Amino acid sequence: MSGGRRVAVVTGGASGIGRATVERLVGDGWNVVVADLNQANGDALVRDLTGTGGTEGADRGQVDFVRTDVSDEGSVEAAVARAQERFGRIDAMVNNAGVGGAFGPITELELEDWEYTFSIVSRGVFLGTKYAARAMTASGRGGSIVNTGSLAGISGGAGPQAYSAAKAGVINFTRSVAVELAAHRVRVNSVSPGFIRTPILGTGVKKIERLLGDVQPWPEVGEPTHVASVIAFLVGPDSAFVTGESINVDGGVTAAGPRVGDTIGGDPAARGLVGVARGSTGHESTVRRRTGPGTAQASG
Ligand SMILES: NC(=O)c1ccc[n+]([C@@H]2O[C@H](COP(=O)([O-])OP(=O)(O)OC[C@H]3O[C@@H](n4cnc5c(N)ncnc54)[C@H](O)[C@@H]3O)[C@@H](O)[C@H]2O)c1
Repeated sequence: MSGGRRVAVVTGGASGIGRATVERLVGDGWNVVVADLNQANGDALVRDLTGTGGTEGADRGQVDFVRTDVSDEGSVEAAVARAQERFGRIDAMVNNAGVGGAFGPITELELEDWEYTFSIVSRGVFLGTKYAARAMTASGRGGSIVNTGSLAGISGGAGPQAYSAAKAGVINFTRSVAVELAAHRVRVNSVSPGFIRTPILGTGVKKIERLLGDVQPWPEVGEPTHVASVIAFLVGPDSAFVTGESINVDGGVTAAGPRVGDTIGGDPAARGLVGVARGSTGHESTVRRRTGPGTAQASG
């Protein structure tokens, strides 16, 4: 029975990161409303999760699909209402729907393509937060809202201009609203994925895999489940005192920054050297050739 189960709405839940999040939450016992524009993928997900080994299991939650356009206010309001009607409550809202949106030189971008991008990436998160927060504050139980940001929202050079600007907005919108809603025990956090193997990357994933070593410290491309598990943490009780936070799920890309040392040869370790630089102290620096593990590649 669905009585005491926690309930989530996941926008963009029919594919990629959203789908992995739905699968994870249902497996963790949540009842989930998938709110996505893509009817065929939504139906397929419901079929997959309600088939053999699906929601029949005692510990698994149920899944429902409602065709939703996150850029449309009435549509988002209806998705939140669906969770309350079907499952009786809403404890978590995952504002995850997204598209790459407008691309090309800034001098040639069409205003309507810019507006389209913002209507989904930015407005969609606003609307999802607005209606989830209404329901969560009205219930008196609070809740958790998780917004999907992006590496592109943190630095330049990681996505098209409109997408990057809208995602930067998502990350700071998250902080602002977290401050506002804390008194109601509604937590608001964001996850910022790096390179994750989903359809949004299109044919780009092969190229990314080839060039990955230049930008990402972790050896493999990220999987949707890597992001889903962080979202599961943020909607669940283990993150009860975490709000206004942004968690990068990017295999260390942000941590590495421009990787100047590696790419233009400034890093002594990459040149097979080890030692200590004593700068302008008047004391001698020491340097010797590396002999430890990985030396063969490093000193080549
Ligand atoms: N995959 C990556 O490398 C990556 C990196 C950073 C951020 N992201 C973000 O992660 C989120 C999920 O993307 P993904 O990689 O899983 O892509 P995806 O294309 O697999 O899934 C996106 C989903 O959003 C849905 N959607 C698009 N517009 C919608 C609308 N107007 N209303 C409702 N649903 C809509 C699509 O139908 C699709 O099911 C997006 O916000 C994306 O920007 C992805």
